Amino acid sequence: MAYKITKVKNIFVNLGKDSYHIIIDKGILNQVGTLISKVISPSKAVVITDKTVAQLYGNTVLNSLSECDFEVKLVSIEPGEDQKTITKAEELYEALFDHKMDRKSPIIALGGGVIGDLAGFVASTFMRGIPLVQIPTTLLAQVDSSIGGKVAVNHTRGKNMIGCFYQPKAVFIDTATLQTLQRAELIAGMVEVIKYGMIKDAVFFEYIEKHLSEILELDDVALENIIYNSCKIKAHVVELDEKEVGLRAILNYGHTIGHALEALTLYKKYRHGDAVAMGMIYASKIAMELKLAEEIVLKRQESLFRKLGLNLKDNELNPNDIVRVLYQDKKTVRGKLRLVLPTRIGEVIIADKTSDKVIQDVLSS
Ligand code: NAD
Ligand code: GLY
Repeated sequence: MAYKITKVKNIFVNLGKDSYHIIIDKGILNQVGTLISKVISPSKAVVITDKTVAQLYGNTVLNSLSECDFEVKLVSIEPGEDQKTITKAEELYEALFDHKMDRKSPIIALGGGVIGDLAGFVASTFMRGIPLVQIPTTLLAQVDSSIGGKVAVNHTRGKNMIGCFYQPKAVFIDTATLQTLQRAELIAGMVEVIKYGMIKDAVFFEYIEKHLSEILELDDVALENIIYNSCKIKAHVVELDEKEVGLRAILNYGHTIGHALEALTLYKKYRHGDAVAMGMIYASKIAMELKLAEEIVLKRQESLFRKLGLNLKDNELNPNDIVRVLYQDKKTVRGKLRLVLPTRIGEVIIADKTSDKVIQDVLSS
């Protein structure tokens, strides 16, 4: 079936008083000042970013905000996951005090998911919460972390363990920023895009299969299309279950086993996307073992991941260790492991009765 190319690039996330728009456009970075002033009156503002992104896009965003009468300061930190700490958040609070931010002054998070999560956490806690605007610049952040309001820092006991739900006032996605992104980061984002097809939209999955080479060549239409459709799916799920009481857990397809692989290798061996891709493959094999899904479901994902140059399994970790770490997952409720398993392309279920033996057999195969 032909996939509808949409011209609409404005998604409304309907969350009552916390509703907001996601606007997707190539070159939008030049206009963020005007766009932000539609939702936040010009005031003091702090742009939080990392040094790589600051060099590439810092001035564009600063100029655009200054032209619209925001009194803006840019704070850039080192890039990398190890910056997502409470200590770094405290340093950022100092910068906010120094700039004399008040409860109406916005934080603009400009960067990948690390910046979005950290700056979002700071915005959610400074003076009990100040406005947050997300300007995501990695594919992963554009399709996932900037939307839905999960903000957090890491703790030595676990990733994203200290955080809350805090929705942004707006999300501005400039697809042109992907031109400077490293290929491995693009591929990590593609895993999340494929995840959306798997959990909710078989036609979208098919579109990705058919247009993978255009996507990887950063074709404008293909990029806009995958970002728009991914955001639309995520926004819909978040609207139905903002605080992850139930349904929202489907967004974690591939993540439960993926997180265990990342944690056991101390976040050094695998990129998040690499680990999630393996997690999706293991979840599909478990689903096959339980006769929930047919082999084609596995094969189509494997084929896409192979084309992206991703590993399909881990060859070193002990399955017993993986199962042990699975039980530390945030979705575990009263000691019961909850796995998101596919039933077909475009549909998953949340299963809480999968035996450890089945999981271990699949991990060992
Ligand atoms: P990241 O923020 O570390 O960015 C990856 C790298 O790309 C960094 O070195 C950064 O400097 C660089 N970069 C960013 N934009 C660039 C651009 N346009 N051009 C060139 N380089 C650029 O990583 P990420 O993958 O974006 O995010 C990962 C984080 O997101 C993790 O901390 C994860 O926990 C979090 N996350 C959060 C959610 C959520 O719902 N809040 C969802 C998924 C992931
Ligand atoms: N990334 C999973 C979620 O936002 O719920």
